[in-house]
Amino acid sequence: MDKKKIIEILNKALTEEMGALIQYMQHHYLYQGPNYVCVGELLKKISMVEMDHAYKLGERIAMLEGIPTTKPGEIKVPKKSIDMLKVNLEDELAAIENYRKWIEEVDALGDPVTRLMLEKILGDEEEHAHQLEMLLAE
Ligand SMILES: [Fe+2]
Ligand SMILES: [Fe+2]
Repeated sequence: MDKKKIIEILNKALTEEMGALIQYMQHHYLYQGPNYVCVGELLKKISMVEMDHAYKLGERIAMLEGIPTTKPGEIKVPKKSIDMLKVNLEDELAAIENYRKWIEEVDALGDPVTRLMLEKILGDEEEHAHQLEMLLAE
């Protein structure tokens, strides 16, 4: 098992999760619209799931004797609330692609525990994408 390569992958994921966490928080604060109550609350709920992902990744990195990154990824805050939902959907779809790739890489590196953790996170990202798709459905 190549710990160094696994830690590198997990740190890429951690950067993305910290960006996502802050982005959803900010969208929760700033979202406006007719469905403000339920959409605003959903954005908050998702931000807390992203924080849970960040914790899991950071703890796994530390367990593998790596140093968890403190750098969040890019944070996008569109002016229009509808664009917040669109940007989050794009990011969730990108996260799904990334996690699928990282799961294969970690599997090839012989770490079934990290693989299982990433699979659970992937399931959450698919749920987020679905929720955003439903909000944007016409
Ligand atoms: Fe996440
Ligand atoms: Fe997500």
